[in-house]
Amino acid sequence: MAYIAVLGHGVVGSGVLEVLMTHKGSIARRADVEIKVKHILDLREFPGLPYSHLFTKDFDVILNDPEVTVVVEVMGGLDPAFQYVKACLEHGKSVVTSNKELVAEKGAELLAIAKENNLNFLFEASVGGGVPIIRPISQCLAANEVGEIAGILNGTTNFILTKMIREHMSFADALQLAQQLGYAERDPSADVEGADACRKICILASLAYGTHVYPREVHTEGITKITLEDVAYAEAWGGVIKLIGQVKMLESGKIHIGVCPMFVSRDSQLAGVDDVFNGILVRGDATGDVVFYGKGAGKLPTASAVVADVIDCVKHFAKRKYLYWEDAKPDYVEPFDVMPTDVFVHIQGKNSDSAFDTAETLFPGAVRLIRKGEKEGEAGFVVSQISGRELGEKLPRLEAIGVKVLGSIRISDY
Ligand code: HSE
Repeated sequence: MAYIAVLGHGVVGSGVLEVLMTHKGSIARRADVEIKVKHILDLREFPGLPYSHLFTKDFDVILNDPEVTVVVEVMGGLDPAFQYVKACLEHGKSVVTSNKELVAEKGAELLAIAKENNLNFLFEASVGGGVPIIRPISQCLAANEVGEIAGILNGTTNFILTKMIREHMSFADALQLAQQLGYAERDPSADVEGADACRKICILASLAYGTHVYPREVHTEGITKITLEDVAYAEAWGGVIKLIGQVKMLESGKIHIGVCPMFVSRDSQLAGVDDVFNGILVRGDATGDVVFYGKGAGKLPTASAVVADVIDCVKHFAKRKYLYWEDAKPDYVEPFDVMPTDVFVHIQGKNSDSAFDTAETLFPGAVRLIRKGEKEGEAGFVVSQISGRELGEKLPRLEAIGVKVLGSIRISDY
């Protein structure tokens, strides 16, 4: 028998209990031992459940129980999750978590403690929910040099963008619908402002390149400024708008990493990743592009990844697994606005043609896009291979000569 404890009985925690109960027999076969939940930590009361007797409000009960060898942390947030996870590792218990904030902020420190104590700290559910990505990068693709990773890492924003693209719903209405359907949190700012996707791409970068990247070092732009006009210009260009988290290893040994909305070509494998689904493209030197697709959030998909990690911990107790990365190093992250990309620019003048002509004086070679329903004075165009820095210098100059800049969106080459 292997005894485990679960910290948190929210959406994911209750899913973990459900998966463990539903698949008790097959899980025992795969783990070579029966897995039994001995304690569940939660401050709330849960009467009437078949396992109500397992609840405790006292973390020390778990910490000081020598029979508990694996602790599942599904509370979310940093406080008290970090203190609890650290204490468990220091007390000889392996830890499995779905907490992306914890891994993105404290991954290097917790992996070091796990290594020191010959334990496992596993977090498959923290990036793709039910979509396997941590194990594939660290094991299945281990013979590759990963040149870059690009992904749609946030289900809520992908749902909102899909509604804007397919049904021409406004950002505000699509967000409200996402909340009604229970996809978006009551406070969806971490989703729509890109912080959630940023945590996930930081975890993937740390894993792929062996050096911790903190979210605070990374350029993060969300989708709050995306309009239906932008969506129509993306269509005129031949694609759709997606919130993309990307990391790329540069020849200099630094990394280019960030999160921003991008035009994605209709031909891209990421263009067809719609609704609340996630899609992650990993570019290996031997494999070429490999794409992982599926449900990035939700009770049972996330719980399934958590329970798989528990099985791994139980099977490999006192045998460390593959996961490890060093702490951050200085100047490792290249400023995001140095890398050139094609960029779409949306402007407004008195007259569409003259606004574009004026823009062309600053952006020679700009290619104009004509969207359906274009309004008088409005124009959109694509500038090829321009860095964010150069664009940031030129757009105010365009405004200074009488052309209002409504926005700009990078164009991906995935
Ligand atoms: N809010 C997140 C999403 C949940 O929408 O993808 C999973 O991290």
